[in-house]
Amino acid sequence: MNAADEYILFIDSGLGGMSVMDALIKKGCSYPVAFYADAKHFPYGKKSVRNISDFLKDIYKFAVSEFAVKMVVIACNTASISAIDTLREIVDVPVVGTVPAIKTAAALTRNGNIGVIATATSVRQNYLSDLANKFAVGANVYIHGTEYLAAAVEEECSGDDLRKLLSEELAFFKDKHIDTLVLGCTHYTFLKDTLNDFFHGTVRIIDSCDGVTRRILSLLPQNENSSSQTGNRLYLNDAKRVKQYKHWNLRYNWFQDIYIEDGAWKKV
Ligand code: DGL
Repeated sequence: MNAADEYILFIDSGLGGMSVMDALIKKGCSYPVAFYADAKHFPYGKKSVRNISDFLKDIYKFAVSEFAVKMVVIACNTASISAIDTLREIVDVPVVGTVPAIKTAAALTRNGNIGVIATATSVRQNYLSDLANKFAVGANVYIHGTEYLAAAVEEECSGDDLRKLLSEELAFFKDKHIDTLVLGCTHYTFLKDTLNDFFHGTVRIIDSCDGVTRRILSLLPQNENSSSQTGNRLYLNDAKRVKQYKHWNLRYNWFQDIYIEDGAWKKV
């Protein structure tokens, strides 16, 4: 089978994982991406581990019934933290997860005060504090769950509304003197510039896109990584969101084909 016939299956609850996919596309990769946006179940950040495990398993089963899967990328911190092990039990290709870049932050912080923002479901588990204990020994790592930031990205919240939301959601960091902020949710990457303005450029903002991309490429055959992709496709399981997703795609031009589930799957 040649590369164009096998897909890298990306999974997220929505737009967030497209930040990781964008980084991969920019690096160049011969395999096309099939991005499954589980918008019907957004936000994962308010779902249980059990539910998220079931969503991922159903998505994988659907994907293999539709096309050949070369690799699975869980382009979502919440889903990776909650369900990567369960998914691996039923998947026979490599599964790459996304986890907050706390290790990178520990290497870069100057004053030893690191902030981490993530969804409620991610924060509820021990995973983030375990990462901090393992990779940021000696630093103060302040882990904070946000309520509406992922939704703000989905709804394209901007301007004063977004600034107001950020000041509410990030008030927790007011007295923490952080110089580094780890984005523990792939949706937040789309807020990077706004976050940078919010902190007046005094806080280094770190996401996981480069790390995940490196991992993906390291698992693909070396000689197949250089050419650029064509035939990227989006599967969106909430027909109500199609207008907005098409709008995003006009801006970034990621997908050549879009399929939506509206009773049955159809190409739009
Ligand atoms: N993009 C997901 C993450 O990285 C979360 C968004 C959601 O709550 O569904 O955690």
